Amino acid sequence: MIEFEHVTKSYPDQTVAVADFSLAIDSHRTIALVGSSGSGKTTLLRMVNRMVEPTAGRVLIDGTDVGNVDPVKLRRSIGYVLQQGGLMPHHTVVDNVAAVLRLNGMAKSPARERALEMMDRVGLDRAMAKRYPGQLSGGQQQRVGVA
Ligand SMILES: Nc1ncnc2c1ncn2[C@@H]1O[C@H](COP(=O)(O)OP(=O)(O)OP(=O)(O)O)[C@@H](O)[C@H]1O
Ligand SMILES: [Mg+2]
Repeated sequence: MIEFEHVTKSYPDQTVAVADFSLAIDSHRTIALVGSSGSGKTTLLRMVNRMVEPTAGRVLIDGTDVGNVDPVKLRRSIGYVLQQGGLMPHHTVVDNVAAVLRLNGMAKSPARERALEMMDRVGLDRAMAKRYPGQLSGGQQQRVGVA
């Protein structure tokens, strides 16, 4: 469960990006944040992984205040897919997928094996594992991001 508890984000120039926002999102729910440009959606998401620290209020994941969690560990525990630009262009597809496992200490060989399984899950032919992101279509690159 992710909970936003009365979160506010204001900037030194007095811009209030988010004002007293509260929402509880149950586990295993799919939600969409919809709002006009500049209404604070990205700011809210960035508060979950501490890319933005709220000025007031707090964000909890399964009851734990993310403000008390090491930001690097927190970010490695959260999956996210960027629409574009999220892949490392100088690493192969399989090593892009294995990147977070490697950062979390898994050895190269099991991390690559797990990455190949993830490629199967998202419908990417294993033959593409040794290619670089620039050698894939846009949709294939997005699936690498999902994997
Ligand atoms: N460093 C900053 N200083 C001042 N204002 C900022 C800063 N960063 C963001 N903002 C403002 O915070 C508000 C919320 O921005 P945010 O990126 O959360 O909007 P959004 O809902 O994701 O918009 P969009 O749909 O355009 O992506 C905007 O008005 C933006 O101009
Ligand atoms: Mg945005």
